[in-house]
Amino acid sequence: TYVVTDNCVRCKYTDCVEVCPVDCFYEGENFLVIHPDECIDCGVCEPECPAEAIKPDTEPGLDKWLKINAEFAQIWPNITIKKDPMDGAKELDGEAGKYEKYFS
Ligand code: SF4
Ligand code: F3S
Repeated sequence: TYVVTDNCVRCKYTDCVEVCPVDCFYEGENFLVIHPDECIDCGVCEPECPAEAIKPDTEPGLDKWLKINAEFAQIWPNITIKKDPMDGAKELDGEAGKYEKYFS
């Protein structure tokens, strides 16, 4: 599966949702997640994210993100249509530790 990681927080560009063939993105207030059981590992979303926040979970150290994606995909609503990024997305793009600082 692919997972959404830290740099999506407070950016939420949403380019990813438009390309997913199985519509497995779920939307929270300031972050998106991928449903690990629905993702078919096609990889097309990865290069679409301007924040480079999407990664294959085969990369080391992504356990935490896999857990977060799996947890919230069960409670957040599905999102399939691109919307505007969050206010200040550009300024916050690349800031470290956004999940700890801003996630709500
Ligand atoms: Fe969707 Fe493919 Fe990305 Fe998985 S890897 S979330 S199936 S676009
Ligand atoms: Fe987030 Fe990137 Fe999608 S910032 S909403 S994972 S395009």
